[in-house]
Amino acid sequence: MALKLNCKYAESFLGENDLTGLKGQVEEAAEKLQKGTGLGNGFLGWVNLPTDYDKQEFERIKKAAETIKSNSKVLIVIGIGGSYLGARAAIEFLNSNNYNELTSGTKIYFTGNSISGSALSELMKICEGKDVSLNVISKSGTTTEPAIAFRVFKEYMENRYGKQEAAKRIFCTTDKAKGTLKKLADEEGYECFVIPDNIGGRFSVLTAVGLLPIAVSGADIDKLMQGAAKAEKAYKETDLLKNDCYKYAALRNAFLRRGYMIELLAAYEPRFSMMNEWFKQLYGESEGKDHKGLFPASVIFSTDLHSMGQYIQDGRRILFETVVNIKECGEDIEIKENADNGDGLNFLAGKKMSYVNEKAFLGTVLAHNDGGVPNLIIELDKADEENLGELIYFFEKACGISGYLLGVNPFDQPGVESYKKNMFALLGKPGYESEKEKLEAKLSK
Ligand code: PA5
Repeated sequence: MALKLNCKYAESFLGENDLTGLKGQVEEAAEKLQKGTGLGNGFLGWVNLPTDYDKQEFERIKKAAETIKSNSKVLIVIGIGGSYLGARAAIEFLNSNNYNELTSGTKIYFTGNSISGSALSELMKICEGKDVSLNVISKSGTTTEPAIAFRVFKEYMENRYGKQEAAKRIFCTTDKAKGTLKKLADEEGYECFVIPDNIGGRFSVLTAVGLLPIAVSGADIDKLMQGAAKAEKAYKETDLLKNDCYKYAALRNAFLRRGYMIELLAAYEPRFSMMNEWFKQLYGESEGKDHKGLFPASVIFSTDLHSMGQYIQDGRRILFETVVNIKECGEDIEIKENADNGDGLNFLAGKKMSYVNEKAFLGTVLAHNDGGVPNLIIELDKADEENLGELIYFFEKACGISGYLLGVNPFDQPGVESYKKNMFALLGKPGYESEKEKLEAKLSK
């Protein structure tokens, strides 16, 4: 495994038996995941997904990606939450957060992840004069944000290309049989990809949800699945002390039990910032229920050392950090000698920026440790497909184990419905009349 968990900067904050004391509970949680006997067991399709996926569909995804790459300058991906974050996170991790500015291939824009009219109309302007394809992603097919965006973009595509040509440029990723989107796709003749029934949105990045946009970016999705398959195999190890994934799940719970309520995911590369967002959804939506769970937060260093650094060093002692340290990450720059040395940086001449970044990382870990912040380090070799496959599976499996250790169902999200119910009522959706009256009375107080 390229991925390694380094606990050296965390252990001194725990008691001798904090980790080993969880051994039995971790084994029980792992068995529930493997045998499908725990809460939410209808949503465990991701556990064996890296080795047990629809190979024919996988080939169809690659073919569709080639078509899009050959006939489109722009791919618009419509989706929200689990139908959005994984694909974007993977594309930026493997390339750059400036992917669209740097690529000579198809630019990929994500929409339908807010209700902003200005964001949507900006995107239509971006599409002007460029050939466009559309990938609309929604498991339920009824989520408001992507449904509005799809309404707008379907009309845009049909106005530009006519109904028949537009249909060839629209790809749907949704349920295999049910839902509004599937029905529409069948009526209009759009090519469809399946989100398996037993895989929830935030665990779906290795299905067509993530794979089609990721393949359009030029990434090797075979290697991505191979990395995940390696992790699937490695993390079947039942001994907690030999299994980094189980160890991470156990340690974050051990910290929570000691009053560390916030986990800060940190990385030293800007291309990781959308992985941070993916992580926050995965853990926040899986664990934040029944008034339990760590609050997942994130930072990019050294950027955020100049904003959040003060709090992390000196604020309330309720946080621990999980730092993803990527050894090799894209091109590097050597710092040159300067005749004036006005900035006093000649002592760095001949050194690479990655060297300086590494020292910033080590200096920060030690400073934060001194300030009372435990640091778990996830080490990765490089930002490539195999490492990413390992990392995705590592976080997913640890999330399942961790949720069971907490005693929640990690695979549902009942809390997400509350805002939707109020929004529909306030919008006057039929069937929500009495709720509307109550809410308007509250608002007018
Ligand atoms: O993780 C989840 O289940 C959610 O974030 C969903 O992915 C999100 O709400 C989008 O749902 P859908 O794919 O049904 O449009």
